Amino acid sequence: MRDWKGIIFDLDGVLLSTDHFHYLAWKALADRLGIPFDEKKNDLLRGVSRMDSLEIILGERSDEFSPEEKLAFATEKNLTYRSYLQTLTPEFVSPEVPETLQKLRDSGLRLAVGSSSKNTPLILEKTDLRKYFDAVSDGNNITKSKPDPEVFLKAAQFIGLDPSECVVVEDADSGIEAAKRGGFYAISIGDSVTNGLDDRHINSLVELL
Ligand code: BG6
Ligand code: MG
Repeated sequence: MRDWKGIIFDLDGVLLSTDHFHYLAWKALADRLGIPFDEKKNDLLRGVSRMDSLEIILGERSDEFSPEEKLAFATEKNLTYRSYLQTLTPEFVSPEVPETLQKLRDSGLRLAVGSSSKNTPLILEKTDLRKYFDAVSDGNNITKSKPDPEVFLKAAQFIGLDPSECVVVEDADSGIEAAKRGGFYAISIGDSVTNGLDDRHINSLVELL
């Protein structure tokens, strides 16, 4: 790999499998509304903001509901999701994740989180992962969600680096697109990225070493 100065990590689905909690929480709402929803459709929501995700789930039925009802649906989903997050502990994270983050830090790289989620602070606290990062850019400091590059551009700014000096690690098509639009080197992880925009693919964070 090139001589990178920083790595920006997506959170859900990259550092830990909270993506499955998102799925379970949306599934509960979709079932209640009688809307078909499965893990494949859930892949379309990766990296996408809460309200945009709701629109994707409602699909053709979106017009049936008022903005107030939609807000209530999103709140309902988030409450279910947060009840799963309350069960998080440091042990929920694969041991190779903190080990790899520590080694990357020791090698002099600056590390940041770049996530669309407004629940990022809670997740980092429950899992004790916050200490590995020089900065966190998340759903609380952006106005445009992935595939807009804003969250990664802010992350790079927070760690004082230019996008050309940073790698982004992502599990979502929307995140890979955001990284490329922002001028970052984009690494995909897992099997959900299908848009072919990634510069490289890895199966485990250990491969970053
Ligand atoms: C992303 C997830 O990290 O955060 C998306 O991949 C999710 O699925 C988005 O919709 C927003 O999350 P939250 O926690 O703010 O509802
Ligand atoms: Mg993700």
